[in-house]
Amino acid sequence: MENTFDLVIIGSGPGGYVAAIRGAQLGFKTAIIEKDKNLGGTCLNVGCIPSKALLYSSEMYHFAGHGATAHGIDLTNLSISIEHLMAKKDKTVDQLRSGVVHLMKTNKIKVFKGLGMLAGDHKVRVKGANDETVLTGKHIIIATGSCVIELPFLKFDGETVVSSDQAIAFDKVPAKMIVVGAGAIGLELGSVWARLGSQVDVIEFLPVIAPTFDKDVSKMAERLFKKQGLNFHLKTKVTGLKQEKGKNILTAEKDGKEIEFEADKILVAVGRKPYTERLGLESVGIQTDEKGRIPVDKHFKTTAHGIYAIGDVIPGPMLAHKAEEEGVACVERIAGQAGHVNYAVIPNVIYTEPEIASVGLTEAMAKEQGIEYKSGKFNLSGNGRAIATDATDGFVKVTACKKTDRILGVQVIAKSGSELIASAVTHMEYGGSAEDLGRTIHAHPTLSEAMKEAALAVDGNAIHG
Ligand code: NAI
Repeated sequence: MENTFDLVIIGSGPGGYVAAIRGAQLGFKTAIIEKDKNLGGTCLNVGCIPSKALLYSSEMYHFAGHGATAHGIDLTNLSISIEHLMAKKDKTVDQLRSGVVHLMKTNKIKVFKGLGMLAGDHKVRVKGANDETVLTGKHIIIATGSCVIELPFLKFDGETVVSSDQAIAFDKVPAKMIVVGAGAIGLELGSVWARLGSQVDVIEFLPVIAPTFDKDVSKMAERLFKKQGLNFHLKTKVTGLKQEKGKNILTAEKDGKEIEFEADKILVAVGRKPYTERLGLESVGIQTDEKGRIPVDKHFKTTAHGIYAIGDVIPGPMLAHKAEEEGVACVERIAGQAGHVNYAVIPNVIYTEPEIASVGLTEAMAKEQGIEYKSGKFNLSGNGRAIATDATDGFVKVTACKKTDRILGVQVIAKSGSELIASAVTHMEYGGSAEDLGRTIHAHPTLSEAMKEAALAVDGNAIHG
């Protein structure tokens, strides 16, 4: 009975480890399996957390070099040690890794290190470095996450052509860096290395950067990031890589013409795909869809009895907080409770400076769905706190249904946008109207007043706009 559990979870990223904790809270005897050395998955080890640490350090450095003098701060002979900066990032990651280990212990969750493989009949084989254990799970949750997408003509070599896994750990600042893809990873890591001194060229095949946001947000982001030194090449298609006189030359095509870029590092950030390698899906008859995702029903049930899936491996945005919510809801459903994920209200953030954040429908989506809408916009240049803290770049936009005034979506491009979006998410979760948000008291002076003002602007009532 030692290896028999109520709940066996494969994968210890934010989806898996949160599901395990919720399972333990609900009284399930729970096991979690992880193939990598550390718990925490992509987000903690090579994704969200290390990139946020690097974004913070590089922002400090950039401020020291570019913004400090305006405050009378003299920082002549400024320098930066990449070794120290990386050590600081590693310390952050280590601290959080210990936190997850601690949480597994305090919740009495049994951790198995090794590759988890479905083996039919409620069994999961855990293939460790030197041994194999078979676990029995009344309920099994697949939370194996995702991995980076490789371009066929630009294969990862870990040295020149790299993924985000390596771009968070360069040992020196590359003189010339190419970023392929102007999505979340490309813009965040492109910003980090540009602030640290790289010449960064971002190649994107769509006509806009950050394409999942409203056009006015993408346009402003492009303008602001250009000022920070990022060079954008839009509507541009990468075609290959060649070596010439010891130099790496990336070839691309724009308007039918070939362009060449010299590069020391090429970060390919064109998306991620579900990770189901060697998981043994065939042994339980689960078939993935055309994008490699595991189909599930509203209860996160796969087609195999007793097997569930959550997070990046199933359809929906590949976001840590979406995976966490699904983990909680899935386990609560297993326990007979009414766990639920509100997919209409999942915030999405790119942690650049300023940050880009959104929730709900963009104006384009509302149009596409035939919903009549009204939008209110408030520029940070009219906000007192923004003026006092050099944060006047950006705006907040609230879009509401023309008939009911219910908030459909909110777009933010602003310093601390990731924090500002939270109040919009809460209002939307409760079905709030633009008027509700506009009449909610926000402390003065705060950047969050821009949210209130944008909501007031929906009906033309902004006070400072
Ligand atoms: P992404 O899907 O956000 O962006 C990829 C970009 O690459 C798109 O703009 C796309 O048009 C472009 N692209 C695709 N193929 C291309 C090609 N051949 N040449 C030029 N451009 C091309 O993917 P990304 O940035 O790699 O992130 C992967 C996943 O991780 C996403 O689901 C993202 O939401 C998530 N993530 C979230 C973060 C956050 O919440 N801040 C941070 C990092 C990643």
